[in-house]
Amino acid sequence: MASIDRSDPVILGHVLAEHRDLFHLLLAVRTSLAAAGPQTSERREDVLAAMHELRDHLRDHFAQEEQGGFLEESVTRIPRLSAAVQSILGQHPELLAELDRVISDLESSPADPGMWARIDRNFASFSAHMTAHERSENAVVQAGYNEDLGLME
Ligand SMILES: [Fe+2]
Ligand SMILES: [Fe+2]
Repeated sequence: MASIDRSDPVILGHVLAEHRDLFHLLLAVRTSLAAAGPQTSERREDVLAAMHELRDHLRDHFAQEEQGGFLEESVTRIPRLSAAVQSILGQHPELLAELDRVISDLESSPADPGMWARIDRNFASFSAHMTAHERSENAVVQAGYNEDLGLME
């Protein structure tokens, strides 16, 4: 069994790299939503492609976290983190559902200015939930691995 104060730079680096990848995919959607110009069907396709890429990545990322790994290991090391980890993992289905609602809204609505404003607003809300979620995970890893990642403000 690993000693309680052993930090694992490989695992920590992996977690942070995964979260950075997700951040860039979120940013890619925000950038394509913010692109100037008329609301053409081409623009809708660009935004949808970025959203689907994010969605695929997110599904894999969540599945990986649920199969064990750094969250489970954090609880093994520090059992009082159990409730936080359960709550974090419990957010996965709702986060995916929230993104799915934005995607299906974009796929099914007419391309008018009202639709774009709504998509933008709802995606911003999803991004905020996602960012808070990842921040909680980083905090658990930081506590579990007794490692100051410099992520807590
Ligand atoms: Fe997660
Ligand atoms: Fe994560």
